[in-house]
Amino acid sequence: MWYDEALLSASPEQCFDVGFWQQQERIVGQASGRGTTWFIQLDNVQGALRHYRRGGLFGKLVRDHYLFCQWDKTRSYQEFQILNHLRQAGVNVPRPIAARAVKKHVCYLADLITEKVPNARDLVTILQENTLRDEMYVKIGREIRKMHDAQVNHTDLNIHNILIDERERVWIIDFDKCSIQQGNDWKEKNLKRLKRSFKKEAKSNQLFWDITGWEHLINEAKNW
Ligand SMILES: Nc1ncnc2c1ncn2[C@@H]1O[C@H](COP(=O)(O)OP(=O)(O)O)[C@@H](O)[C@H]1O
Ligand SMILES: [Mg+2]
Repeated sequence: MWYDEALLSASPEQCFDVGFWQQQERIVGQASGRGTTWFIQLDNVQGALRHYRRGGLFGKLVRDHYLFCQWDKTRSYQEFQILNHLRQAGVNVPRPIAARAVKKHVCYLADLITEKVPNARDLVTILQENTLRDEMYVKIGREIRKMHDAQVNHTDLNIHNILIDERERVWIIDFDKCSIQQGNDWKEKNLKRLKRSFKKEAKSNQLFWDITGWEHLINEAKNW
């Protein structure tokens, strides 16, 4: 377990157990991605608790088991560290609160609690309701650029993983399987993936989005 004592008053033994928070009536909401992310009321802030799950067909077979090799190579620890790295670099990402890995024979299970970004919605939800001002696309581009300046490769950069809060600040989330990498060639790949995500969601969810928004974003994001 790795955690920030200042933010976690509950025992670290219990804090990854959804049942524990349910009993205390401290579940304040939930969101779904690959699995369920539970929002919990901690003493001073709200947390987002996520159990690591696999996607795809392979995920149906082994669901949440990952092959163990070293504690500091576990998914939860890696994400915890990347979030710390990005916060130090001044990128808007959730504050990591606690991470856990539990060894089961040759495998492990993993969980993470981050600080819930208050009063934020993801880009899909926002664009289903209205258009975004050009200035906001520039801001998204700037946050991605800051992340890339910190050499973080976001391998799942899509519009579900970008949030905007009530003060119009842009947040990037979901750093599972991401890494700190030298060079630049992967940065273009992150951006291509994000563009595909805009296009795909625009088709299936009828977003208020067109290519001009993207052009503002990309002009600001490119740093190489
Ligand atoms: N720190 C956070 N603050 C606010 N919402 C969050 C936070 N972490 C996750 N969420 C919400 O939960 C959803 C799923 O979490 P995410 O980290 O993207 O995992 P995955 O996509 O692998 O399920 C996100 O799309 C977002 O809506
Ligand atoms: Mg996600």
